[in-house]
Amino acid sequence: MNEKTSQLLERRKRFVPKGVFNVTSYFAQSAKQGTITDVEGRELIDFAGGIGVVNVGHTHPKVVEAVCKQAERFTHTCFHVVMYQEYIDLAEKLTNLTPGNFPKMAALFNSGAEAVENAVKSARHYSGRSAVISFDCGFHGRTLLSMSLTGKVKPYKLGFGPFAPEIYHMPYAYCYRCPLNLNYPECDVACARNLENFFIKNAAAEEVACLIVEPVAGEGGFITPPKEYFSILKNICKKYGIIFIADEIQTGFGRTGTMFAMEQYNVEPDLVTAAKSMGGGLPISALIGRSEILDHPQIGGMGGTYGGNPISCAASLAVLEAFEEENILYKGQELGRKMKQGFDKLAGRYACIGDVRGLGSMLAMEIVTDRKTKTPDPDLTKKIISYAHEKGLITMACGNFGNVIRTLAPLTMDDETLDRGLKIMEQAFNQSGAK
Ligand SMILES: Cc1ncc(COP(=O)(O)O)c(C=O)c1O
Repeated sequence: MNEKTSQLLERRKRFVPKGVFNVTSYFAQSAKQGTITDVEGRELIDFAGGIGVVNVGHTHPKVVEAVCKQAERFTHTCFHVVMYQEYIDLAEKLTNLTPGNFPKMAALFNSGAEAVENAVKSARHYSGRSAVISFDCGFHGRTLLSMSLTGKVKPYKLGFGPFAPEIYHMPYAYCYRCPLNLNYPECDVACARNLENFFIKNAAAEEVACLIVEPVAGEGGFITPPKEYFSILKNICKKYGIIFIADEIQTGFGRTGTMFAMEQYNVEPDLVTAAKSMGGGLPISALIGRSEILDHPQIGGMGGTYGGNPISCAASLAVLEAFEEENILYKGQELGRKMKQGFDKLAGRYACIGDVRGLGSMLAMEIVTDRKTKTPDPDLTKKIISYAHEKGLITMACGNFGNVIRTLAPLTMDDETLDRGLKIMEQAFNQSGAK
């Protein structure tokens, strides 16, 4: 670390609270496609993608051009004061992209948490009910309501209570550590069917406004439910008039191999939240879904000063154009296939890798002390990750036990960069004493 980095670190410690967490001690100077260059000129291979944001790659030329052009025209009028076409164009495109052949609308916000908040608000308004079901291992953001929906206490909720009321957490389909101690497929996906029992003990179905769930639990450990899981949940929701919300904030925009992960589960959510990769690095989020639900709140009940900012809309439209013109979905599928090969190879060599899982290029390895007991090994996970960081590979942990190594690399990462990244990962296992 040279003087520039250490000075910046000192000032960061002095002026920015530690709760605003950092994964590495690098400071960025520039970034392109699959790599970031830091202020010391070191090239970093980016397996984190700014936490699943730059799916089209860092500084994608179409995004940069759209942002610059829009900034020259106008940067802000507030959509509620003077409207602009980019907001409408994006809303229309999003309604065509999400699963489900029914009338849809879309509202734009700034962050994932805001989209989640508005999903729950709309569901409550439409249904006239108050209870919300979310899941153990779920993550939905850091605002009061989204934090309350989140199913992991440390660090997200510790000391921040009391939480928003009328939220009920249900076990998730964590097959590697089944909450019901069963095995798939003999279990007949009992964890999903259990929703009927959940109503008996936790919240009466007729008081439940909505159920919110991630197609792959992101922060929870890239937990990937079996293929029938969501259709069972959705059918039960339908039976009781409960609104089904898919939180696709981390899984969205091609991360799992399809534009939205629910396409692979053959489920049409009533509402979908999107953010992260939508803006190619610009802050924007969306709530998309059934018109009758989203159009229910009164005028003024939804929105915010910056929601659907014109520069972010322009960036998001450019992201969609890149997807259409540059086969990015296919690139993501290929990246996932190669990354999975690399992880499977590592799992063949290191018994501490208890599980390799994920969808598309949303992939992870769960680290355990041994495969029989499946005891989580967060210390080894930390060692592997910090060695990777030292050697210039940016990767991150997740999981309720902090023992899952995940990848959210730009879908456009080239083979050479990917191979270099996988090599560093292998060295990291080797040098950390992994067995
Ligand atoms: C599934 C999911 N929902 C919601 C959020 C919150 O998004 P934001 O950090 O933009 O508020 C995240 C962020 O990681 C997420 O992964």
